[in-house]
Amino acid sequence: MSKDLDTESNSDNPQLTQFIKHLSQDHVKFLVLTGAGISTSSGIPDFRSPETGLYHNLSRLQLPYAEAVFDIDYFQKNPNPFMLLCKELYPGQYIPSAFHLFIRLLQDHGKLHRVYTQNIDTLERIAGVDDDLIIEAHGSFEGNHCIECHEEFDQENYKLLVLKGEVVKCWKCQGLVKPDIVFFGESLPKKFFDQWDQDVKQLKKSDQFVALTAGTSLTVYPFASLPSEIPRKIPRILVNLENVGDFKSKPRDSDLLVLGDIEQFILKVIKEAGWWDEYLKLRNEIVEKLGLQTKKETVEEKVDDITKEIEQELEQENEGSSSDDQLDELTVAVETLDLKANTA
Ligand code: OAD
Repeated sequence: MSKDLDTESNSDNPQLTQFIKHLSQDHVKFLVLTGAGISTSSGIPDFRSPETGLYHNLSRLQLPYAEAVFDIDYFQKNPNPFMLLCKELYPGQYIPSAFHLFIRLLQDHGKLHRVYTQNIDTLERIAGVDDDLIIEAHGSFEGNHCIECHEEFDQENYKLLVLKGEVVKCWKCQGLVKPDIVFFGESLPKKFFDQWDQDVKQLKKSDQFVALTAGTSLTVYPFASLPSEIPRKIPRILVNLENVGDFKSKPRDSDLLVLGDIEQFILKVIKEAGWWDEYLKLRNEIVEKLGLQTKKETVEEKVDDITKEIEQELEQENEGSSSDDQLDELTVAVETLDLKANTA
């Protein structure tokens, strides 16, 4: 992670000035909505970036379709691609990005209302954000259940087995055990809907909020509709490489668009807010606790590794069965992607 900041002054960067203006308002709290783009600088690939996205890379494999890795019907037939991915992405191997630490700093300064994340990497938790301020809309690696009888599996043992490359089976019914990650074909956690309803009610009653969206293509519903549900009196900010979702289709006069690299921008915000020393201290503490010296691989290397591993696994399996058979079986699954956590 580069810690070099541009020498550019605020007057050359009106977005930074505007962001800091929101941040420095007394009593203002941030409601944060995030996606995979906030973790790419930690070395975790996102899904849809053209070169480095997971789906882009998996699409060249003999999977029926790239998202099949996260499809419950496909998982039941072939858990291996997901379990390989699980091993690669298991928490503990990645350092939170500057954006995760910014969320933590918002909390430390009494400016975090809540973070809603689509990410499963638990990096907000690792950054030290309080449990009750995080909503993991698509679940996470915290907790595992049998997909048949819903029996819970011991977290530590599960982690050990996954890191050994094993497909874990339920001790009770021999069903597959998977982390509590929401797959296509499954519902989002009830907590997500309940908390969002409460938060929107609260936002309607006060103008002491800013809604910050970052690192998401806003293509997977229902999460993708959240920015459109932010009351009009609340300023919205988007920090992302590209303009997306409601910010693009129904822009509001009060929207602040920061189109560029999240890490670079947020490091400037941290510096400008006077939080730089706290940021460095926090980062050092977390790196030390994780026992990781530096980021292991670039996101390009990581996505290449994952793709190769899954490719090898599929090749071995396909020696035994025809991929046409698998395709036929999965047509139904593709057609029923129109569920609660589906692609727009
Ligand atoms: P996507 O991969 O769809 O979108 C990531 C967004 O972040 C894109 O708009 C990128 O341009 C942007 N981005 C990536 N790196 C960035 C950087 N360094 N700086 C700025 N922007 C950057 O990821 P999500 O929107 O999170 O669901 O995907 C949503 C859901 O789709 C995931 O939760 C997952 C997936 O299918 C399930 O598995 C259920």
